[in-house]
Amino acid sequence: MKGVTVVDHPLVQHKLTLMRKKDASTKSFRELLREVATLLCYEVTRDLELETVEIETPLTATAAPVLAGKKLVFANILRSGGGLLEGMLDLVPAARVAHIGLYRDPATLGAVEYYFKAPQDLAERLVIVIDPMLATGNTAVAAVDRLKEQGAVAIRLVCLVAAPQGLETLHGRHPDVPVWTAAIDDGLNDHGYILPGVGDAGDRMYGTK
Ligand code: URA
Repeated sequence: MKGVTVVDHPLVQHKLTLMRKKDASTKSFRELLREVATLLCYEVTRDLELETVEIETPLTATAAPVLAGKKLVFANILRSGGGLLEGMLDLVPAARVAHIGLYRDPATLGAVEYYFKAPQDLAERLVIVIDPMLATGNTAVAAVDRLKEQGAVAIRLVCLVAAPQGLETLHGRHPDVPVWTAAIDDGLNDHGYILPGVGDAGDRMYGTK
């Protein structure tokens, strides 16, 4: 699918299967999500630009690569983005973090914003939106709309599982936002949950059900 990278690394696929199991504990779901997030982060940052700097090792002077440009922004969609955020910050600890509070209206499945806080200079940074479940795509579209309104121009999205409908909705509205995911699942049930999916990612990682 255009604009979508399915991270088919065996470790990612194995860990996702463990997470899908309904009897996975809150602790293990959260730990696995953090581990998978690290691996997804590795892939979504694979093509970041480098620049060369002069350094001194204990033995000699040399030219060596470092990341170019401003620090990344991870845009955490509350509340379940938090599970991915921890793993991504493990790998990129200097990243800036935006928080976007959006909940799904259970009747319409539309996204309703209740919080937004982001760095001022989004236009100068790569922004990576993180949300474990790309289901209807409404939340992702609302988050990207808002980030663009605030000046973001380079935006990517990382999720654990995507539904084909969510990808279609996101790319219908924002074809310039590529997606990295561990899996594209079959579809959605009547309540907008991904099938086979992992269930409610927020409830599973925080033990709220
Ligand atoms: N949100 C979730 O947590 N799970 C889904 O399957 C869909 C949306």
